[in-house]
Amino acid sequence: MTRTSVVPSTRIAEFPALEHVTYLNSGSAGPLSRAAADALTAALHEEYTRGRADAASWTAFLDSRVGLRAALAELVGCAAPEVALTHHTTEGLNIALWGLDWAPGEHIALTSLEHDAGIAAVNTLAVRHGLSVDVAEIGLGGVEETLAGIEEVMRRRPRMLMISHVAYSTGAVLPLREVARIAHAHDCLVVVDGAQAVGAIEVDVTALDVDAYSFNGYKWLCGPEGSGGLVVRERLHERIRPSHGGAFGVSFAGAQLGEPASTPPLPGAERYESGSWFRPQLRGLQAAVDWYQGRVAEGGGPRHISAIAAHTVRRLERELGAVIHTPDGPQRSGLVAFSLPDRDSRAVVAQLESVGVIIRSIPGSGHLRVSCAAFTTEEDITALIAALSAPSDQSPV
Ligand SMILES: Cc1ncc(COP(=O)(O)O)c(C=O)c1O
Repeated sequence: MTRTSVVPSTRIAEFPALEHVTYLNSGSAGPLSRAAADALTAALHEEYTRGRADAASWTAFLDSRVGLRAALAELVGCAAPEVALTHHTTEGLNIALWGLDWAPGEHIALTSLEHDAGIAAVNTLAVRHGLSVDVAEIGLGGVEETLAGIEEVMRRRPRMLMISHVAYSTGAVLPLREVARIAHAHDCLVVVDGAQAVGAIEVDVTALDVDAYSFNGYKWLCGPEGSGGLVVRERLHERIRPSHGGAFGVSFAGAQLGEPASTPPLPGAERYESGSWFRPQLRGLQAAVDWYQGRVAEGGGPRHISAIAAHTVRRLERELGAVIHTPDGPQRSGLVAFSLPDRDSRAVVAQLESVGVIIRSIPGSGHLRVSCAAFTTEEDITALIAALSAPSDQSPV
């Protein structure tokens, strides 16, 4: 056990992938936990050996959706009827963004630190409906620059703002509570990309007072790909409307063929779900959330992550003279963005991978990015520093 760490010594048993690599890129995809893999495998085996059309397996499937929504609600601080199950962050963002009745010429805003997924979602919507896209310039995501950028963009009167909770490129935890206050004062809804936040920092959607919040299970929660959740606050269920219908999202109680209004959306956020599921994936995400909550209960999770990220920053600065691009203090997440004088970031990533240390570089800025997760130890950071200190055959850039 390490000084900053509440990572159990069983971590390789919990994450077999850690036996082979120093895993510092959960921001792209976390290692699949044994808990999630076991649940996935068991569910798949049941389907394979017993079939999946009998009443018992159908009921178990429906129950697993209910249980998972409740678990996700507890994880992100909202009520279970405010959670829809999705397949990834992008799906949830699209559901929320398309939920308004947009008219040509209206404005939608996003920040200058968004991931390609959110940019693509906003741009696609804007082209389809003839909207103007306004960009809030927020620098590296520091509090003052972010709030100034949001104030400025509100002058264009956007109906929605799409903003990350944690900026994927700089690792800044953006000040969502204040952002929501400003946006709401301008009658603008706030849709959050939580891909880099859930499983890395504390998330309380109710306290943040944002309107919609989308996230996935395969990064910081170390669950399966193809799993995620979307929160839409209850007060907005009639305003952010479903764009796609499906048997899982509407009520058939009074259904009459040819009467569109006779299959109204279900009462809660379930209305945003549509068709059937790969059932093992739901069970895998449930196991991943249970694992993560267990870690939080032991004093791990966000507290450990921010301590190990602070440790990483200190060592990068002191031992390698790195320039850190992640804001300090409460704005620090599990992501540490930095650059090394005279080193090409893509070459550094390749050099590290050749010795089993996995990080990534950020296109555009050329910064390097390390992900400190719930399982990361100081030994991992020692391996990182050693790999970065090793002579490279790269000529200076
Ligand atoms: C900030 C951010 N948003 C969205 C995504 C895409 O996530 P998903 O695959 O869950 O749609 C990523 C993936 O790296 C991300 O970093």
